[in-house]
Amino acid sequence: IANIRDPEAALETGRPRVTMSSRPPIKYVSGMPILGDFAENWENVKRFQARADDILIATYPKSGTTWMSEIVDHILSEGDTVRTKRGAIYERVPFLEYAVPDMPTGTERLNLLDCQRVVKTHLPVEILPKCFWDEKCKTIYIARNAKDVVVSYFHFYRMAIVHPEPGTWEEFLQNFMEGKVAFGSWFNHVKGWWNARKEKNILYILYEDMLENPKREIHKVFEFLGKKESEDEVEKIHQATSFQAMKNNPMANYTSVPGSVMDHSVSPFMRKGICGDWKNHFTVAQNEMFDAFYRKEMADTDLTFRF
Ligand code: A3P
Repeated sequence: IANIRDPEAALETGRPRVTMSSRPPIKYVSGMPILGDFAENWENVKRFQARADDILIATYPKSGTTWMSEIVDHILSEGDTVRTKRGAIYERVPFLEYAVPDMPTGTERLNLLDCQRVVKTHLPVEILPKCFWDEKCKTIYIARNAKDVVVSYFHFYRMAIVHPEPGTWEEFLQNFMEGKVAFGSWFNHVKGWWNARKEKNILYILYEDMLENPKREIHKVFEFLGKKESEDEVEKIHQATSFQAMKNNPMANYTSVPGSVMDHSVSPFMRKGICGDWKNHFTVAQNEMFDAFYRKEMADTDLTFRF
């Protein structure tokens, strides 16, 4: 486990400064919509060097990335909860594509870590830098049902000012279905990673399974990482990574990021953490329309979700 070195030092690596434009428009890289500021750092993402012992956590946004990041960091820290509070989650598990003016980029943070790294990415499988496959990095993918993802993403767009304005709920839902939100189509993302798991070293986990039986899923992660666990350790990790524990933990709940990046008074990052909140957002007509679209998009996969 690497110590967190002064991240501000990373700012001295010569990256051209971009001035903070609030809510910059979406840009496209390799055919994928991405946050405008993130596009500025794309060359560094493409040049990134993975290491064989890197652990990659890949997700479509709002699918339980932070939750799994905490679990993996707890496993590597052997359940030492003092150790897991050594830095904020985005310092302990840097976000590969992250780039916001006047903060260290994800690649800068990662390049500073000199011990085993846990890397977060939202990239669709087809544009993940090849080095992760060349190095045969262990990858954990977490997928969450589309309806709860779009609700969570809508609230996240509202509070995280690095996103464009989400528009109305109706407009956002439409954009989500058309794959016009940051990181593109949810359908393409979950199916692409699902298909890749057959050839690559990928543990594919469902958010709904984590909610249903967190300890069972924590055991799976231990096994995948080739670590031996005791029941005590699993219990401790389960407690420390519960929704309430993470919501109350400033090192996990993103309250340490500047207010110019996230405004928790609009919607907290740790919002509800449940399955089925979509029922409070979708109208009957929206649900019918979404279901019809969903059936078409998911006709070519055996991947299924609980809603
Ligand atoms: P909601 O907005 O539905 O509450 P990500 O980390 O990929 O951005 O995902 C964020 C979503 O995961 C949010 O969903 C958040 O509340 C939920 N989440 C985070 N930690 C969780 C936990 N320990 N248990 C359940 N859900 C959690």
